[in-house]
Amino acid sequence: MASAFIKATCFVLIAVALVAPLADAAITCGTVVNSLRPCLSYVQGGSSVPPTCCSGIKSLYAAAKTKADRQGVCGCLKTLAASFKGINYSKAAGLPGKCGVSIAYKIDPSTDCSKVQ
Ligand SMILES: *[C@@H]1O[C@H](CO)[C@@H](O)[C@H](O)[C@H]1NC(C)=O
Repeated sequence: MASAFIKATCFVLIAVALVAPLADAAITCGTVVNSLRPCLSYVQGGSSVPPTCCSGIKSLYAAAKTKADRQGVCGCLKTLAASFKGINYSKAAGLPGKCGVSIAYKIDPSTDCSKVQ
């Protein structure tokens, strides 16, 4: 279950990472996962977005400042998401919007992290 959490969380994370460059290069995949973990239930089929999920997304969004960091997070998310089953990408893609955060890229397994700005 832990790995499922990580993967789902990472997917959501892609959205955040793509939209907002991480300000701190020290931001690790683990940090991202922990921040988005509350979002797992939703992307796996939950009907509502937990407030803690939005809090995590917003904090990551705020932390994302540079393109390099954002690309790094993107890669981390893709790697984790690739091994995860049960994530509804449609819901993951809409998550930022539900939290009031706008992202410039689509959350999708095919996202090219090298093109993240
Ligand atoms: C993903 O979520 C959307 C929106 O809630 C829903 O319409 C769709 O059926 C879901 N897909 C799967 C595979 O559960």
